[in-house]
Amino acid sequence: MRISFIVAKAENNVIGINNKLPWHLKDDLQNFKKLTMGHHMIMGRKTYESIGKPLPGRMSLVISSDPRAVTEQLVWFPSIFRAIKFAERAGEMELFIIGGEKIFKSALSLADRIYLTEVKGDVNGDTFFPPLSLKNWKLVSEQNFPKNADNDHSFDFRVLDRR
Ligand SMILES: NC(=O)c1ccc[n+]([C@@H]2O[C@H](COP(=O)([O-])OP(=O)(O)OC[C@H]3O[C@@H](n4cnc5c(N)ncnc54)[C@H](OP(=O)(O)O)[C@@H]3O)[C@@H](O)[C@H]2O)c1
Repeated sequence: MRISFIVAKAENNVIGINNKLPWHLKDDLQNFKKLTMGHHMIMGRKTYESIGKPLPGRMSLVISSDPRAVTEQLVWFPSIFRAIKFAERAGEMELFIIGGEKIFKSALSLADRIYLTEVKGDVNGDTFFPPLSLKNWKLVSEQNFPKNADNDHSFDFRVLDRR
């Protein structure tokens, strides 16, 4: 099973502010939907609360020290390790780790691939992606998106695989 991170970060590594995303990038949300559809996704409790509901067509695995009721599209786990085992047992081929800061920091060493949206410029925020050492990652593909009516910042969408 491949373990893939999917993250949007600014050049100063900001990923969030006040438990929300600091930007509106319609094209990036569409990429996120296309890539994660049909897959298991691991997220921290705060990211789950920020999204507000299980995303349709995907299995949400939420990490918290205070697990809650399970539904058809949502399971709570006390550790990332237990959530990974659950996805593996379900036959998942590509597991997505979708944030936030706490989960990204804990799980970076487990990632095989990063779908990285790099938002142009520095952005004000309170949560951060851990620094990436580019010697560990090779660029597989890159696509540029301009700032326009749908995207309030320009950004690059990159796929990085662990070397
Ligand atoms: N730009 C992006 O791509 C992106 C993606 C996702 C999120 N975000 C942003 O990131 C921010 C949220 O990040 P965050 O770091 O504050 O929160 P988070 O990582 O989403 O959630 C943190 C919570 O997850 C649980 N948790 C994390 N690690 C755990 C562990 N090892 N064992 C047990 N429980 C664990 C704890 O829940 P309990 O307190 O319940 O124990 C912890 O309080 C928001 O602003 C969000 O919008 C951005």
